[in-house]
Amino acid sequence: MSADKSTSWSYTEGLPSEDEVLLRARERSHELGVAPVSPGVGAALTVLAAASKAQTAVEIGTGAGVSGVCLLRGLSKNSVLTTIDVDVEHLKAAREAFAEAGSPANRTRTISGRAADVLPRLTDAAYDLVFIDGDKQSFPSYLEQAVRLLKAGGLLIINDALDKDRVSDPAIRETSTVTLRQVGKAVRENENLFSSLLPTGDGLLLAVKR
Ligand SMILES: C[S@@+](CC[C@H](N)C(=O)[O-])C[C@H]1O[C@@H](n2cnc3c(N)ncnc32)[C@H](O)[C@@H]1O
Repeated sequence: MSADKSTSWSYTEGLPSEDEVLLRARERSHELGVAPVSPGVGAALTVLAAASKAQTAVEIGTGAGVSGVCLLRGLSKNSVLTTIDVDVEHLKAAREAFAEAGSPANRTRTISGRAADVLPRLTDAAYDLVFIDGDKQSFPSYLEQAVRLLKAGGLLIINDALDKDRVSDPAIRETSTVTLRQVGKAVRENENLFSSLLPTGDGLLLAVKR
């Protein structure tokens, strides 16, 4: 293994050149104290959304809309992104970002509420893509819900899967790290999923439902 992995990581994170819309959404995220996806993850979301040809997508953890704008840019023009956040100020900022990105209002369904309450109301096997980026302690139940929501062939994307490089060190037993380790194991051991863990950002765990 080369000693330059961190240099390569920084290099790849520095490659995406983000436009004014994303930079403003990042600024609002900062003002609201929300951690948006990294530029590398944002670019990956656009590519994955485009490659998946998803018509219906769900995002858990809207924040100020950085990841939502990246997803919308990859999704086709007639697709709908359902995005859930517990914080109305975050949703308001995200709606501004979506509007600035030129996305018509009918392409996004912003739902305010706890994801644990909202997700069970969404229809089984009705979604092509699910992106999880909400409160980490709930990732195990979001994973369960995501597998239920996805159609066969649907794509699951889980952000922060390496929990700031702590997941790989078994000596680290912090709650979020243990949770994300368990989520990774549950995905790998789920016979209905093909999966791959990318080191992009803080770790992007991808899975496709068989
Ligand atoms: C890491 S931020 C999401 C960032 C966003 N994906 C982006 O890249 O711009 C996590 C978000 O999850 C929301 N959140 C926290 N607990 C939640 C819950 N129980 N249900 C729904 N959203 C929640 C927070 O309000 C916050 O906006």
